[in-house]
Amino acid sequence: MKYFIGVDLGTSGLKALLVSQEGNVVCATNVAYPCEFPNPGWSEQSPAVWWNALVTAVKKLATVCDKTEIAGIGVAGQMHGLVALDEANEVIRPAILWNDGRSEKQTAFLNEKIGKDKLKAWTGNVAFPGFTAPKVLWMKENEEENFAKIRKILLPKDYLNFRLTGTFTTDLSDAAGTLFLDVKNGCWSKDMCEICGITEETLPQLLKGYETAGYLTKSAADSLGLPHGIPVAAGAGDNAGAAVGTLLPEKDRANISLGTSGTVFLPCERFLEISADGIHNFRHADGKYHLMACILSAASCNEWFCKDILQTEDYAGEQSKISTVDLGNNHVFFLPYLMGERSPMNDVNARGVFFGLRRDTKREDMTLAVLEGVAFALKENLEIMKEGGIEINRCTLCGGGAKSPLWQTVLANVLRLPLDLPLCEEGPSYGAAILAMVSAGAYASVSEATEKFLKTKESVLPDSKISDKYEEKYQQFKKIYPALKNVF
Ligand code: XUL
Repeated sequence: MKYFIGVDLGTSGLKALLVSQEGNVVCATNVAYPCEFPNPGWSEQSPAVWWNALVTAVKKLATVCDKTEIAGIGVAGQMHGLVALDEANEVIRPAILWNDGRSEKQTAFLNEKIGKDKLKAWTGNVAFPGFTAPKVLWMKENEEENFAKIRKILLPKDYLNFRLTGTFTTDLSDAAGTLFLDVKNGCWSKDMCEICGITEETLPQLLKGYETAGYLTKSAADSLGLPHGIPVAAGAGDNAGAAVGTLLPEKDRANISLGTSGTVFLPCERFLEISADGIHNFRHADGKYHLMACILSAASCNEWFCKDILQTEDYAGEQSKISTVDLGNNHVFFLPYLMGERSPMNDVNARGVFFGLRRDTKREDMTLAVLEGVAFALKENLEIMKEGGIEINRCTLCGGGAKSPLWQTVLANVLRLPLDLPLCEEGPSYGAAILAMVSAGAYASVSEATEKFLKTKESVLPDSKISDKYEEKYQQFKKIYPALKNVF
């Protein structure tokens, strides 16, 4: 039997799976690590922490099978992060992550001085502080010495692939989130490199997610306790990886992920021009295209409220006090903008808000408001896609938050859409294992493997009475941010 390792380099931890060639998850392991917030709105992690987590996780997986049967490795990872290496291939500074808002000024320069039209023509997208290029500009303007040392720029999962194989590669899905990629044509944009003061050689080689980035080097193999020479797939950004691992290939079906971030991911056969700036025009791990909206705080809102504020880690216990009879009747609203917001409004200064508190407000009302606020924020993006002529009539739900039956019901009713829960809930790590299988030649294409593996466990359907009430609540929710925008 052959086995494949699929890795999800997440924001709150690294997950690794051992998956058989038949698509069965044989072992799963998770190594948690913190996210550093050194200044308000900043978000960083040390790439060494990711590598150490990978070593710990892979060593554990290697104990449950014969190591010589491990035939491929694939990594999917948090997107957009800036990992800068010097000429000795050493990390210059901690990685600046996807939810970091420090490059507001550089983002404004790109969108307003260079101009959104040019950015869209060159890259398919406008600038967001979370994207990689504005962070490179931030380094150029704020850390001159560090900037001068840069020889290579990698995305988080590409750093792991570099440590595994010694090669500098990325895949199109992750590259799309840098704002250096000409998304339509699948090549680096010379204009963007020039504006940000880097050469094209600073950026890694572009591959499709299922292509091989390289082979496990002797020294990486020794650290991991595996034989050397195992092929490593180019991998994917975590959302594309999750779509490979969960999303049935059907027309008008989107993937919704409730992870640290919340995303709506819609695969497309070709590059679609979409006028809404908040919707990303990206590439998929199979080399095709997708549209995506990303809210910066999703399951992280629930984690923050339970862990940091209520001081409990019993999420299910908190939610068990809320009856589905209460759905649609909550007088409390929550704006989930704990790290500012990306889609749709691109506002680093937006902040989280509890709104409508009364003397009789209970803990449960606030807990429910957090789940509802995230659902409303996702709905706002779905509505924008709809206005742009995009049909979505069914969604697959994945990510840590998707495990909550209450949140599933809230979301199905707020979105007024049937939600399917995948049999294998792992998302990015499972998708990464599939990419590893294709890279190693176990399957001829991504679709050959996914058609065989992906199944729905159960579906959650909206209830028209609850959905009607939520529609009214959503109309109120939509008015709160514009009313507060200038106060933020
Ligand atoms: C997507 C995005 C997030 C990260 C987090 O654009 O920024 O989903 O990939 O994992």
